[in-house]
Amino acid sequence: LTIITNILNGIGYKDLHYLLKVLLMTKKIILDCDPGHDDAVAIMLAASSKEIEILGITCVGGNSGLNNTVNNALKVCTLIERTDIKVYSGANKPIHYELFTAEYVHGKTGLDKKGDPIIIDTNYKPQEKHGVDFIIETCKSSTDQIYLCPTGPLTNIALSLQKDPSIKKNIKEIVFMGGAAMCLGNTTPSAEFNIYVDPHAANIVLDSGIPLTMMGLDVTHQVNVNSKIIKSMNENKNKTSKFFGELMEFYTIFHKELYETEETPLHDPCVIAYLLDPSIFSGKKVNVRVEENSELTRGKTVVDWLGVTKRPANCFVMNQANNEKFFQLLKDNLSQLP
Ligand code: BDR
Ligand code: CA
Repeated sequence: LTIITNILNGIGYKDLHYLLKVLLMTKKIILDCDPGHDDAVAIMLAASSKEIEILGITCVGGNSGLNNTVNNALKVCTLIERTDIKVYSGANKPIHYELFTAEYVHGKTGLDKKGDPIIIDTNYKPQEKHGVDFIIETCKSSTDQIYLCPTGPLTNIALSLQKDPSIKKNIKEIVFMGGAAMCLGNTTPSAEFNIYVDPHAANIVLDSGIPLTMMGLDVTHQVNVNSKIIKSMNENKNKTSKFFGELMEFYTIFHKELYETEETPLHDPCVIAYLLDPSIFSGKKVNVRVEENSELTRGKTVVDWLGVTKRPANCFVMNQANNEKFFQLLKDNLSQLP
């Protein structure tokens, strides 16, 4: 008791209040990703916040092959000096389909950028445990409920739920980037990339009964990077913000051409921004199913916005985002990193 009293006296009331707030509000997450430029920004945003504890990063084949996505996660954590974050290698291909990658967006390495290459810390290696086993074991052993944050194809998450459905009770929420409710797809006219790559995995997640939040193209196309944002981020004057700029210089090339605008959607950090400040986004709880097989519409998220099918609502689908609030949060948070 004396020790505790001394500690409390030492840190003062204000600090104690802050400490308690942080402890009570800290969200424990597993970031399941396929870096990828926007995944990289999601990692940085999560790592910069005291309100989020990253239990581990699991990687999946998606934007690039699995070896690249794992290496890219290691690169990002090296750059932000967070080599304490454990990185796990997961599924190298979707449940039924062959892997379809997006080198046409993210380059040969999956994380091509301007400037010098990032050299991974020599002692920083991927963990031996498979990502799926890490997800299962972490959910089972945690006393707190866990947030799963997939920003790539949902393969690792679906495989974990299939292998051990008992983990569902330990999952507070799955907040995923994927799908398109009321807008065009970006990989086919009807499908967004992550859901297109592994539609079977998406349906396993959608059928799981776990609270789900979908950050689809409807919202990610409302948080756009442009040269003004890159310039503004540079005002942070730290190496993470410089890195952000170097990544974005490459990432915006494809989008400028495709959309014929200066605005590039920054998809994946929306997942983390939602955990940090849900007021940035709004949406509606509705039923979502995914088309698995059609040649024309594989990966389409069929979102029953009007409730016409009477199928039960299984997913909170976001359709509004506040661009200004989002980028202010990102800028403030990235300034906290080296
Ligand atoms: C999604 O596809 C990937 O290219 C991005 O990283 C993002 O997760 C957007 O459709
Ligand atoms: Ca991604």
